[in-house]
Amino acid sequence: MFRKALLLLLPFLLPLFVTAGGGMWLPLLLENLNEAEMKEMGMKISAKDIYDINNGSLKDAIVHFGGFCTGEVISSKGLVLTNHHCGFTAIQSHSTLENNYLEDGFWAANHAQEIPNPGLFVTFIDRIEDVTPRVLDGVYADTPEAERARLVAENLRQLREKYPLKEHEELLVKPFYDGNQYFAFVTKKYTDIRLVGAPPSSIGKFGADTDNWEWPRHTGDFSLFRIYAAPDGSPAAYSSDNVPYTPKKHLEISLQGLQPGDFSMVFGFPGTTDQYLPASAMQQRTEVLNPIRIGMRDLSLAVIDSAMRASAQVKIDYASKQARIANAWKKWRGESEGVAAVNAIAQRQDLEKEFLRRLQAKPAEAEIYAPLLPELNALVVRQEAVAKTRAYVGEMNYNIDLFRVASFLSGQLKIAQSNGLAAFRERVPGIVAFLEEFYTGYHPGIDQRVAQALIPVYLDEVPENHQSFYVRDQVEFAGSRQKLINDLFERSYLTRGARLIKLLQDNPDVAVDVINGDPAYQFVLQLNRFNEKEVGEPYNEIAQRMAPLQRKYLAGLMTFFPERRFYPDANSTLRVSYGKFEGFTGLDGKTFDFMTDLDGVIAKYIPGNYEFDVPARLRELHAAKDYGRYATADGKLPVCILGSNHTTGGNSGSPALDANGRLVGLNFDRTWQSTMSDVHYDPSICRNIMVDIRYVLFLIDKFGGAPHLVEEMTLVN
Ligand code: ARG
Ligand code: ASP
Repeated sequence: MFRKALLLLLPFLLPLFVTAGGGMWLPLLLENLNEAEMKEMGMKISAKDIYDINNGSLKDAIVHFGGFCTGEVISSKGLVLTNHHCGFTAIQSHSTLENNYLEDGFWAANHAQEIPNPGLFVTFIDRIEDVTPRVLDGVYADTPEAERARLVAENLRQLREKYPLKEHEELLVKPFYDGNQYFAFVTKKYTDIRLVGAPPSSIGKFGADTDNWEWPRHTGDFSLFRIYAAPDGSPAAYSSDNVPYTPKKHLEISLQGLQPGDFSMVFGFPGTTDQYLPASAMQQRTEVLNPIRIGMRDLSLAVIDSAMRASAQVKIDYASKQARIANAWKKWRGESEGVAAVNAIAQRQDLEKEFLRRLQAKPAEAEIYAPLLPELNALVVRQEAVAKTRAYVGEMNYNIDLFRVASFLSGQLKIAQSNGLAAFRERVPGIVAFLEEFYTGYHPGIDQRVAQALIPVYLDEVPENHQSFYVRDQVEFAGSRQKLINDLFERSYLTRGARLIKLLQDNPDVAVDVINGDPAYQFVLQLNRFNEKEVGEPYNEIAQRMAPLQRKYLAGLMTFFPERRFYPDANSTLRVSYGKFEGFTGLDGKTFDFMTDLDGVIAKYIPGNYEFDVPARLRELHAAKDYGRYATADGKLPVCILGSNHTTGGNSGSPALDANGRLVGLNFDRTWQSTMSDVHYDPSICRNIMVDIRYVLFLIDKFGGAPHLVEEMTLVN
């Protein structure tokens, strides 16, 4: 019994209301852990209204959108609301210079006009179960790590084998609290998802990079999709026979309006956080690794941005790529600044000191827990050199398209190598489909300039023993790095998509030889192979040694800080965050209101500017104050709202709900320094940014001229 002590049940048994702020909570635990506090903060519904496995509850209206964002069902006909930036790739893929939905927006007038999106899917969560006792069966505090891993793998295998699933249901089991607990999710995935509506980018992406991660904000960041299902309601691949899906539950929308201090709640699929890092790791991330990545992206963005400004076609082709690269670039800057501004590293060090102090009173536990931090810290130091190189190489692989396609092809050629040419030939249609998408909008000249900017940094900054011999030899043969890079682009098949694709189709066997002999392919392959061996492997080896230490360290924190409530790090599973609709006082003492309105959009308007243009129709509606029922009592049209809900990447598209569980906003961002909440949540300045639902409805109804879509929703006044 004593051996079986699971170390962490204790904190959950105590009803504690210490508001350290923040938290991304598991819906099935709200009733025990959070409901009382939520009600105290103003929530009028019950935890059961949010999550219930017997009756329809709010969770039945929330979907994981494409696996990277959140969406919510807002009508009985399967209409799904998410962000413009979540639907962006889909909108871009249907855009041409003639039918430019990015530029002009898109509104389907009827179901027949809704556009299918191969590859896109949404996932519902049917039920969640704590499976910790089953996964950790036979595991004791003193079970050696290797044995523990074997037991967990075996228990998971059995769990998956025996878990009762109905047709179309899938099982997802994930570790929580660094592996101290496990939860199972029964999911259902729909794959016929059609585009229904999107505002022009000048609204959906208003403010673009300048305003991204900033407040005050004026972006109408939303788009609409519809789930289609087989006539019996079950998931089905795209078919013209499919029908709009009838959900178990759809969200009601409130037009009632909001006051600062009102209860707010965000329900969605946050991706990744690292809340329990040792101070040393937080410091390495924010002071060493973020700056490397930021520096690499400074260089690639300088090339891409100027190319986009020079050509309307490039602006379409690179829109999604540029947004992806710029988004993380700016986020890392905010995270490092925020951590520095609130002294988060010193705060973490204080926590560690307090942990050791509390341990002193318990010698038996101290023996287990006290050595963990010094061991973790030593590993963080040991990992630094490889972590830095990994960041440089990771950024080359991410920013240079030639690297991306070479890595893709290398994965495919491995199949030819291990399973034979016949197996490779069978895969050609799939490979061609990938390449066709990849080369649509690929500009080798721009890519070459990105490579010219990044590869020299690798050659200059990465220590010699981490640099591939092959790469250094190639530079020497070519005479200069610049010449080498130009040669790679000019002599490679990989920069000539149409020819590569034709070769693959006409003669796959020859294509394999040609790719293998391609200079750019070999360059990327050799660089990554060497890096994997000399950098990747040691990095992973250290990470694997950290994992059990981190798991025990977190268990120790949870045991020795019973006055704190611990929430599990985000891991792309369904969570609830709650707080208030509220503004904030910045670190410089400046105060910010919790709501912006359409006047602010007009104040930012710069005619023809690529970030701050405003469509004529929107300017007209503003001039006429023609806001219909979507205006506030004092005649303003709300645009964005701010709240103190703990969110992260993946929460985009999440519904913002009011005290009655009604939809009042659409989450899409955080204020700049808030991005530190991925490692440390500071309630005084961490704020999430939402579009006010009234702006969304106004844009659909009045601006988009698609009132039929608003009519299928359930509006409450
Ligand atoms: N910062 C938000 C999030 O991380 C919005 C990003 C979309 N907008 C953009 N300009 N890239 O995803
Ligand atoms: N914009 C983010 C997303 O795409 C949300 C965030 O990081 O606050 O999920």
